[in-house]
Amino acid sequence: MLTARAAVLLDAGGDPQLTDVQLREPVGDEVLVRIDAVGICHTDISVAARFRKLPMVFGHEGAGTVVAAGPRAARRVGEQVVLTFASCGVCSNCAAGRPAYCDHATDLNMRGGRRDESSALRLDGAPITAGFFGQSSFATHAIARSRSAVAVPESIDPAVAAPLGCSVQTGVGAVLNVLTPEPGDPFVVFGAGAVGLSAVMAARIAGCRTIVAVDPIEQRRTLATELGATATIDPTTSDVVAEVVELTGGAGAAVDTTARPDVIAAAVGALRTRGSLALVGLGALTAELPVALIMGKGLAVRGVVEGDSEPQTFIPRLAALHRRGELPLDKVVTTYPFDDFDRAWAAAKAGEVVKPVLVTGA
Ligand SMILES: NC(=O)c1ccc[n+]([C@@H]2O[C@H](COP(=O)([O-])OP(=O)(O)OC[C@H]3O[C@@H](n4cnc5c(N)ncnc54)[C@H](O)[C@@H]3O)[C@@H](O)[C@H]2O)c1
Ligand SMILES: [Zn+2]
Ligand SMILES: [Zn+2]
Repeated sequence: MLTARAAVLLDAGGDPQLTDVQLREPVGDEVLVRIDAVGICHTDISVAARFRKLPMVFGHEGAGTVVAAGPRAARRVGEQVVLTFASCGVCSNCAAGRPAYCDHATDLNMRGGRRDESSALRLDGAPITAGFFGQSSFATHAIARSRSAVAVPESIDPAVAAPLGCSVQTGVGAVLNVLTPEPGDPFVVFGAGAVGLSAVMAARIAGCRTIVAVDPIEQRRTLATELGATATIDPTTSDVVAEVVELTGGAGAAVDTTARPDVIAAAVGALRTRGSLALVGLGALTAELPVALIMGKGLAVRGVVEGDSEPQTFIPRLAALHRRGELPLDKVVTTYPFDDFDRAWAAAKAGEVVKPVLVTGA
């Protein structure tokens, strides 16, 4: 048993608290990872708000160093890794190279491991729920299976590598893996948080000449412009659909990260003939969509989980894009010492920072 420091959610509806937990040894193909940096994703906040199988450790954008490996682990001690979502590896979607749509994705990622001896984490000696997105990395150490641990070059700063595991691969993958816009396709993103800004950077990589970012927060619109947006729209003062159509003649490709039914309906209305909208936000269970318009214009509305990524190949590709200066994530990340978890969590909840990343060595 190893003692680690973790942010543990103890009370329903509360905020995680830093406390000591115990981790067992890695078994099978698991690795024990010393977490060097971990990002806070909006999904941590929204799932924590309604999670009931407590105590629980969230965190699913861990980056760190392998310090122990199970007998069948694919990663070696000393390797730098990015932790990413879990998948079973054997269902038909995993076999087809689509692990984000694993038949067991919800159980493996959203629910955490069972609260029995199979849990890797204990609090005061008793097993607790863990394994959020195959990791539970709001901690100084985490256990993950090899499929969720992706080797990355040592040269990448862990604070920048951490969000590659979820929000960056989601935003970039929605554009480069799913929408695949042509340079002439005007691109629009609704919501310029970490996912939306990643989509903006990807649209620039794809060569899109017109890139529009919509967000009510001025600082995020400014950041979007720095990262490649050619125009921005404040939805609180503009008729967004009319403005998108005026700027672009209708979007060829669009991403919704807001998960707001009204925004999703508006996003469909802002598409040009045969345009596509990717839905990545978590929150809206239903939305009223203009079906006649979707049919008549041949529009596509497509859900996207984790950017449709196959992480073992896509995350190294993202790291290479960063190295070439094409994913300037340093502009998006704000680091906090791990001990300042409370401050980072509050800032993330309030939307004051785009991508808070906790750094353990600080
Ligand atoms: N599908 C996936 O695999 C996946 C992966 C990661 C995150 N997510 C989800 O994606 C969403 C985005 O994540 P994030 O971390 O970027 O969150 P975020 O909260 O930082 O970003 C959402 C943005 O939408 C903006 N917004 C609010 N109202 C708006 C409006 N009317 N018009 C335009 N913009 C508006 C907010 O100001 C904010 O900047 C979350 O719901 C998250 O849970 C999904
Ligand atoms: Zn599977
Ligand atoms: Zn996430």
